[in-house]
Amino acid sequence: MKPLIHVIAAARPNFMKVAPLVRALRAEAWCETELVHTGQHYDAAMSDAFFRDLSIPRPDHHLEVGSGTHAEQTAGVMVAYEKVCLARRPDWIIVVGDVNSTVACALVGAKLCIPVAHLEAGLRSGDRTMPEEINRVVTDSIADLLWTPSPDGDENLSREGRGHCVERVGNIMIDTFVSLRDRIEATRSHEAHGLARGDYGVVTLHRPANVDHEDTLTALVDGLVSVASETPLVFPVHPRTRKMLATFGLLNRLEAAPGLTLTEPLGYIDFMGLVTGARLVITDSGGVQEETTFLGIPCLTLRPNTERPITITEGSNRLVTPADLSRAAHAALAAGPRTAPPPALWDGQTAARVVASLKRRVMGTAAETAAVSA
Ligand code: UD1
Ligand code: UDP
Repeated sequence: MKPLIHVIAAARPNFMKVAPLVRALRAEAWCETELVHTGQHYDAAMSDAFFRDLSIPRPDHHLEVGSGTHAEQTAGVMVAYEKVCLARRPDWIIVVGDVNSTVACALVGAKLCIPVAHLEAGLRSGDRTMPEEINRVVTDSIADLLWTPSPDGDENLSREGRGHCVERVGNIMIDTFVSLRDRIEATRSHEAHGLARGDYGVVTLHRPANVDHEDTLTALVDGLVSVASETPLVFPVHPRTRKMLATFGLLNRLEAAPGLTLTEPLGYIDFMGLVTGARLVITDSGGVQEETTFLGIPCLTLRPNTERPITITEGSNRLVTPADLSRAAHAALAAGPRTAPPPALWDGQTAARVVASLKRRVMGTAAETAAVSA
């Protein structure tokens, strides 16, 4: 029997990471690959749209865990995923990113002594109030193989005594962008909003530290209204953010603000179509910091820290506070795009490097076992 590989997907930022990986693994004759969707994100706009846009095959297992508190969601994924592993044991589990399902499935694998590989390992914000930072630290401490996107990841893992598990493979999100770039550029998504290429900004916000507190969210709304009075902004609103805007009575104000267009969360092609034509991006997303760095588009990240420092040192990203947003946007618009090569190994070939790395591990182990029993 061929070695069985599980690839775990759960939430929006996972889908662009698993798409090239599942495609590359399914093209290999030496392994069998199953896709597991935990169901952490479940709205059509947060999940199905990405399966369609990114041509991701239908999941082999759907755990339908949904939303909940951190403990409910993490535990729910663990209970459901353990059953899948006990019914038919995979030989390797691949988890991506830093969401609750990432750490949940890594824990299930580690407890069942199934080797776990983490793609996008080693990123650290140093901020343990961020739920994702806990997920990163725990996942990296129990995974057997740590695939990093950048040298800072290697350094963080070495410092934590995990350097022996590291292989730098590059940034898998860029594989997805590169493979769809022609379709993305052909969509001209800005036209649907009556905007001219290079003459607008794109906004995304969903971090609990920004959207779950009334004072912070109010300051952010003030900042966005002020920027939009100078440059039109399109803001696809994450479900968490929509809920909190409504709770704090801020939704009407944003909807009525001149120059500001709110939309539902967009599919990948539409969203990246908007981003590629934008003059400025304002975000607290992890993935969007990387995509704007790849494209050289000025990005203002509304956070006090980032687990992706290379987007600042080698990219177009800057950290800003809500109070500073309007001034920073003005400066970024005046400075214009950055023309520098993307970071090393952000080249569209990461999935191929991941598959080669995994094959060495899996087939190397199989060859050693055969030699011992011969
Ligand atoms: C999660 C991840 C975060 C990631 C983000 C990407 C964790 C701890 N957080 O945050 O790292 O950046 O996804 O978007 O894993 N909801 C819906 N429909 C959905 C999904 C969520 O309405 O399809 C609403 C629910 O009210 C839910 C809330 O959004 O309670 C938050 O969802 P959840 O998955 O817990 O966290 P995110 O904020 O989406
Ligand atoms: N994205 C999208 N539509 C949107 C907002 C984001 O397709 O309306 C994509 C974006 O291009 C990036 C990914 O979603 O590839 C990032 O996901 P998100 O910001 O939800 O999570 P994070 O990266 O912060 O964990």
